[in-house]
Amino acid sequence: MTVPGLRDKKLARAKITALTAYDYPTALILEEAGIDVVLVGDSLANAVLGYDSTLPVTMEEMLVAVRSVRRGLRHSLLVADMPFGSYQVGEDEAVASAVRFVKTGAEAVKLEGGRTRTAVVRRLVDSGIPVMGHIGLTPQSVHVMGGYKVQGRGTDASRALIEDALALEHAGAFAVVLEGIPAPLAGEITVELQIPTIGIGAGPHCDGQILVLADVLGLTRGKKPKFVRRYLNLHEQAVAAVQAYSSDVLGGTFPAREECYDEAVRPEVHRSSSKA
Ligand code: KIV
Repeated sequence: MTVPGLRDKKLARAKITALTAYDYPTALILEEAGIDVVLVGDSLANAVLGYDSTLPVTMEEMLVAVRSVRRGLRHSLLVADMPFGSYQVGEDEAVASAVRFVKTGAEAVKLEGGRTRTAVVRRLVDSGIPVMGHIGLTPQSVHVMGGYKVQGRGTDASRALIEDALALEHAGAFAVVLEGIPAPLAGEITVELQIPTIGIGAGPHCDGQILVLADVLGLTRGKKPKFVRRYLNLHEQAVAAVQAYSSDVLGGTFPAREECYDEAVRPEVHRSSSKA
């Protein structure tokens, strides 16, 4: 998948598939499943690193994830999320951060915000770096929003989001994520824009859909957000598997004969030779 390829999909009215990944094995899974866009999201913070928001994740942590995901992908488009603090201070700093991602293997970057971000989006695009926008519920602004709340409700708020989306398109963004907004508003934005919209909690009318992989696989704990569809309960399955392993070890049934090397060698001999 390529940046122009996404625009072609919109023109052909073919849906775009996107998911997050943060490491090599999950990148391999998404690649094999034929996902169009793999986002190394700053949701790395919550989904993998155990932070309670996306705000603490650093460039260094994101770069490790991008490098790992790069090794697992061949066809999917790799987009790196600009973490909080990597593009807010100034345009030069934003270009420097984005260049680090591209040198690490990202093909595009994503950043949060609408009209307030158009200058930085233009500067990145002029530097040869494709930019995906992200508006609506923008988790890096959690304190401004007063929590993770649906955005764009009411005439003024919905008009503001349409203007944000148009401003990002005019600034050169190649796609825009619409997060946590009413489905009819997402539909309206999707019709107004030439570039694809990718929704998360934004209903079925977007050109594509994205979810956090840990939510899809059931690796996250706690209440499932309304917009998430869980396809597996991996957390529960993994706990059951680890409990089974533990009970096999405790009960002496692991390892079995077929799981041993040189079964005839007495354990004492084996231990002393491994120390040597
Ligand atoms: O970081 C992330 O996972 C995201 C998606 C939810 C769009 O930004």
